[in-house]
Amino acid sequence: MRTISLSAAAAVLAFSTLTSAAAATTAITVKGNAFFRGNERFYIRGVDYQPGGSSNLGDPLANTTSCSRDIPIMQELGINTLRVYTVDNSENHDECMKMLEDAGIYLILDVNTPNFSINREFPMYSYNAKYLQHIFATIDVFGQYTNTLGFFSANEVTNMVNNTRAATVVKAVTRDMKQYIAAQVNRPIPVGYSAADVAENRMQMAEYLDCGDDSDARGDFYAINDYSWCGSKSSFQISGWDQKVKNYTDYAVPIFLSEFGCNVPSPRVFAEIESLYSTDMTGVFSGGLVYEFTQEDNKFGLVQVSDDGKTVEKLTDFDNLAKMYNSTANPTGDGGYQTGLSAKSCPAATDVWQASNTLPNLPADASTYMKSGAGKALGNSGGSQYIPPSGTEDLSFDGDTSTASGSAAASSGTAEAGAAFGNSEMVAGTWWIGVIVPMAAVAGAMFVF
Ligand SMILES: *[C@@H]1O[C@H](CO)[C@@H](O)[C@H](O)[C@H]1NC(C)=O
Ligand SMILES: *[C@@H]1O[C@H](CO)[C@@H](O)[C@H](O)[C@H]1NC(C)=O
Ligand SMILES: *[C@@H]1O[C@H](CO)[C@@H](O)[C@H](O)[C@H]1NC(C)=O
Ligand SMILES: *[C@@H]1O[C@H](CO)[C@@H](O)[C@H](O)[C@H]1NC(C)=O
Ligand SMILES: *[C@@H]1O[C@H](CO)[C@@H](O)[C@H](O)[C@H]1NC(C)=O
Repeated sequence: MRTISLSAAAAVLAFSTLTSAAAATTAITVKGNAFFRGNERFYIRGVDYQPGGSSNLGDPLANTTSCSRDIPIMQELGINTLRVYTVDNSENHDECMKMLEDAGIYLILDVNTPNFSINREFPMYSYNAKYLQHIFATIDVFGQYTNTLGFFSANEVTNMVNNTRAATVVKAVTRDMKQYIAAQVNRPIPVGYSAADVAENRMQMAEYLDCGDDSDARGDFYAINDYSWCGSKSSFQISGWDQKVKNYTDYAVPIFLSEFGCNVPSPRVFAEIESLYSTDMTGVFSGGLVYEFTQEDNKFGLVQVSDDGKTVEKLTDFDNLAKMYNSTANPTGDGGYQTGLSAKSCPAATDVWQASNTLPNLPADASTYMKSGAGKALGNSGGSQYIPPSGTEDLSFDGDTSTASGSAAASSGTAEAGAAFGNSEMVAGTWWIGVIVPMAAVAGAMFVF
């Protein structure tokens, strides 16, 4: 890979090398602002995977029927990474994880589930020992697989200008997960956040999660859900990706797109693949995850699952993406990654930025997990959410969250309670119906999920 020229023939050669690449048996590490597999730079070429859609609470890594159906097709597509939004930590994941490993595919996993997640309206009420037990137990389960590339501490919890306060708890949870991994898992596994691209405060969000003196509280990577490159007429400049590269140039840890692939116009041609894996981007970005593998109601799919669930049909988007991956080699050498970049200074409070630079301490009743492990993985029944009576303010960041622990959400299922859950589930999901997600879209387009 290091010595090829970029002629078409060589790119094809490079691709064959890539697909025949060894199973995902070497753990991915972070060096400077890049990922590495051994001594070789690792670029995420991946897809987001939530068969059944975001309202389906199934666990795609516990279902050997669907994962044995899909993983060979993913391999054919030419990916090396899969993002999964929710799992049941009490299920067995050995078979699907092994199939992924054999196919050379790494996993980036969201540790939250709808009932165990950070509530963006009442973040401190949701920051309790029961919640932490759940996500630490998930780390125990997936930390044993070498092909677990990383964990998302949360997804799009802050998604508007008025809920930036919740980022404080995202940062505390990121810190707790890193400390738990250091204490209880036998290798470092990167932890980061998947951010909504909110134009008004996107830089504060990125800076905040990599700022300050406490290195435990700084993410190991940062990821952005970005739908700003739309169609063949877009470009590095028109999409604004050039500005993003410029803005994040001295960001100290790896950055990648945790969702991309604007679907207007359709079918998608994925011209952005060429840009994403070129040196225009690779000094700052480490690839990305296309949203999403299976066709669901919001029409971002690459494959259509048959009604009986037995087969999948590749859609035009699949063929177009496979072709783009096939013809797009990674840059030679190290792609211009950087080391020795420093932490940011923490963003000042403004109208559009209200997160606290002083983080809440680990809830006292969760400290036992750090010392002795999380114990049994209890699965998704029940929950850790506590929705206080209406009119109640959230707890302060030095509040005692032990009272919140153990009380499950009182009112899940209503649009309001659902929309409050800081969980990746709701990306493009039923809970977001009618919610306008501000994104840096070309031509001022707004996406309504
Ligand atoms: C933010 O504004 C939305 C309406 O735009 C509202 O539903 C929500 O409760 C507000 N959140 C906070 C934390 O104030
Ligand atoms: C780039 O940074 C500026 C200044 O912080 C910010 O206003 C703008 O939204 C950023 N643009 C992009 C595309 O990230
Ligand atoms: C597993 O996947 C198959 C194929 O999509 C589906 O029919 C089945 O219902 C799934 N099982 C569970 C427990 O979700
Ligand atoms: C990649 O392109 C080459 C040359 O066109 C072709 O032989 C090969 O089958 C392609 N691989 C995939 C996975 O599309
Ligand atoms: C999630 O919480 C709600 C409200 O407490 C509850 O009704 C539901 O059964 C929980 N979900 C699961 C999978 O346990």
